[in-house]
Amino acid sequence: MRKKTTSGSRPTPAAVQALVAAARAAATQAYSPYSKVCVGAALLAEDGSLYIGCNVENASYGLTICAERVAIGNAVAAGARRFRALAIATNQPRVVMPCGACRQVLMEFAPDLELHVAGPGKKRVTTTLADLLPAAFLPKHLR
Ligand code: THU
Repeated sequence: MRKKTTSGSRPTPAAVQALVAAARAAATQAYSPYSKVCVGAALLAEDGSLYIGCNVENASYGLTICAERVAIGNAVAAGARRFRALAIATNQPRVVMPCGACRQVLMEFAPDLELHVAGPGKKRVTTTLADLLPAAFLPKHLR
């Protein structure tokens, strides 16, 4: 079994609701003139602090940064490196799961992360990063 890198209790339903609300708010800041897909991410750190991100597209399409990676960057820049949960919300008619690149970047800091992906209305997919990225390449593989 993988060693836990996060500690403490799982977020309460109220905390998850607040996290989803923060992701929805972040999605409204998306800069996505090309795809028109607006994504918001909210990351709950182990100490209870919250970091948000939205997707930031570029005229050179491949330089687009996903919402999840913006959130991780914001968190790390503020000194947070341990996380409990991530919420994702979009303007899309169905649930949008994090892309493979974001799964790998999240795994660097939060192998035990729980994910709450909001669809339209009250639809939610709750899962874990470990389920989304099994047999991941991890920092320990470099040692
Ligand atoms: N996008 C994210 O922000 N996160 C993901 O995990 C998947 C894709 C964004 C990138 C791009 O701006 C738009 O969604 C369409 O791919």
